[in-house]
Amino acid sequence: MEIKITKTTNPGQKPTDESKLGFGKVFTDHMFLYDWNDKEGWHDARIVPFGNLNLHPASTVFHYALEVFEGMKAYRTAEGQVQLFRPDENAKRMYNSAERIGLPPVPVDDFVQAVEELISVDKDWCPHTDGCSLYIRPFLYGTDASVGLHTLHSAQFCIIVAPSGAYYAEGINPVNIMIETEDVRAVRGGTGFTKCGGNYAAAQRATVKAEEKGFSQVLWLDGVERKYIEEVGSMNIMFKIDGKIITPSIEEKTVLPGITRKSMLQVLRDKGYTVEERKVSVEEVEKAALDGKLEEAWGTGTAAVVSPVGNLTINGEKFTINDNKIGPTTQMLYDTLTGIQWGKLEDPYGWIVPVK
Ligand code: COI
Repeated sequence: MEIKITKTTNPGQKPTDESKLGFGKVFTDHMFLYDWNDKEGWHDARIVPFGNLNLHPASTVFHYALEVFEGMKAYRTAEGQVQLFRPDENAKRMYNSAERIGLPPVPVDDFVQAVEELISVDKDWCPHTDGCSLYIRPFLYGTDASVGLHTLHSAQFCIIVAPSGAYYAEGINPVNIMIETEDVRAVRGGTGFTKCGGNYAAAQRATVKAEEKGFSQVLWLDGVERKYIEEVGSMNIMFKIDGKIITPSIEEKTVLPGITRKSMLQVLRDKGYTVEERKVSVEEVEKAALDGKLEEAWGTGTAAVVSPVGNLTINGEKFTINDNKIGPTTQMLYDTLTGIQWGKLEDPYGWIVPVK
């Protein structure tokens, strides 16, 4: 793929105090655009100055939510190298998401090349402060200028980049999670395994309700029996019960196949932990908590990194985990993941891709 690069003549002011960045609010100078139509396929790959998109009001994305996205990061090492974490995994997941939604998948190599070239152009924006990174948001959307709902004829792929700090205001401190018992996020045969905007729209009402009550996030249950734990709004979930690591299985395709999830399961197995990927019910977690066997719980996600869960509330009843403190396994995972990502630890897995 040949990418045409047009640099901005009006570069933005880089944040002076990186501790105040927040998450996904400030954007770099450039973005990547790539167009698709059913006659030419993917064409016109370009990096252009960051700005508004020019879309027809009838574009399919606005009416039928034909949209999928990814979340990934670039990290600056102490030596000044900017690097990516498993970009091919994001590319493959977006390919699978697009196929399920009926959008034209972006070829995996094009996706990775686009991310690498865009980050290379804007790498001076990559924060220097510990815990801050460039959050990269690739997204793909239907652009047919017609409110009829048919096979798509045109689409666009865009990547924007935001220098960011921690996703949760709590940082690495434990978060408060509410188990949602009314709304559901996904069902078998649906889009739960994809990263499509529609999944997050379905989650929004409960997320607002949880935030109003002072929770950071919602924990979703399965859409049929409302009994089994699936995932949190912005991360996968893992429990340490009686020495074993238990996490909801992704087999039924109702849970997002998290890249941080996959990476952390590999680290845990390599360190000799017993890991079970299976159905885990709220009842099992409640019982473990009451029996004093729920040792730790944490979430994993690109934005959330590894985030300890301090409290789980179901139907108004609150279960505190590990005295609302980060536990040793959560800390080990956090240190290993961030150590590899920021180049403080050796990467034995080949997960890191340096940006030129
Ligand atoms: C990510 O972890 O990158 C996500 O896309 C989650 C999003 C809700 C911020």
